[in-house]
Amino acid sequence: MLTFEHRFGGTPSTPVLNGGLMQVLGIESSCDETAAAIVEDAGPGFTVRSDVVSSQVELHAAYGGVVPEVASRHHLTNIAPVVAQALALARTGLEALDGIAVTRGPGLIGALLVGVQFGKALAYARGLPLVGVNHLEGHLTSVFLQTGEDSPLATPGFPHVALLCSGGHTEIHLVHDFGQMRLLGATRDDAAGEAFDKGGKMLGLGYPGGVKIEALAHGGDPGAIKFPRSFRGSSLEFSFSGLKTALAIWLRDHGRPEGPGLADLCASYQAAIIEVLVDKVIRAAELAQTPRIVLAGGVAANKTLQQRLREEASVSGCELFVPPLAHCTDNAGMIAAAGLMRLRRGERAGLDLNADASLALG
Ligand code: KG4
Ligand code: ZN
Repeated sequence: MLTFEHRFGGTPSTPVLNGGLMQVLGIESSCDETAAAIVEDAGPGFTVRSDVVSSQVELHAAYGGVVPEVASRHHLTNIAPVVAQALALARTGLEALDGIAVTRGPGLIGALLVGVQFGKALAYARGLPLVGVNHLEGHLTSVFLQTGEDSPLATPGFPHVALLCSGGHTEIHLVHDFGQMRLLGATRDDAAGEAFDKGGKMLGLGYPGGVKIEALAHGGDPGAIKFPRSFRGSSLEFSFSGLKTALAIWLRDHGRPEGPGLADLCASYQAAIIEVLVDKVIRAAELAQTPRIVLAGGVAANKTLQQRLREEASVSGCELFVPPLAHCTDNAGMIAAAGLMRLRRGERAGLDLNADASLALG
């Protein structure tokens, strides 16, 4: 049984026609979320007309993590109804679109292929322009999405420094414009989201670990256990694999605590991840001499991270921009927006567009 989450949509009461604005369908299927969104350009940013996400999290939770083959199969059954739902909620149709943007990487190859092939088929059948989008570029664009639910959200100017933290990536970029960024530092091993997820698994909290660790950390003492902080100093690189090992050793020596002890453990583990992330992005903003910092990707949903970064940013005279929760985690609005900018610049993908599991940014 397919369940949708209608994150946004259904707001316009009349059919949305082009009227000079570009309207783009975004398709995202890189991991365990099948998503489709209709996005229109607006100033400032992009208006999200609809944003539909069908999450497979509960299916994969039974296995303690995403099972690629299971993900592909579910994308296959979900993609057509998810796209139809996004069009219906935006009260628009394929004939009113100016293009289709689809995630082409990085991600799980089988999962990506479903979105790419669906996007290609739709574009071919309807004669619509098509563009492939890097999932990470989508996350960097997510801070420009306007939902119409709040008054226009403040959007950052260019250049800005962006900390992108997802399940598979932890990177700092100096972003000069849409689609134009320079990598300043990245993780050498595990991503921050992976550290949360693997930590959660070791603690028997299930998948995904990030939300669970954050919830259990409430009321815990972040200074109770001294977990290592990697690459202190001027480097903008990260490493989280040692932290994971430190947790495994701590659990071997002390066993898994309950109640307040578990809260202290989660708070201390979370603090070790957050402290390095905050330190490095503040240092990057100083080095790049930009007062604007963007936090994006699934881990950006972490309220403690947001709060710590907001505090430190204000000490350094920087302004912090974070997308609303629904646009931190995977969604298709960010893919549509990033694709819209590429389509505006005249970029077009051919029918030879292919998925690339390890596609790099830039
Ligand atoms: O960007 P995303 O939705 O998918 C990928 O592109 O990977 O990020 C997913 C990651 C997972 O590792 C998940 O545990 C983490 O984001 N995450 C969080 C929180 N919500 C999601 N990590 C820490 N605290 C959260 N509240
Ligand atoms: Zn993502």
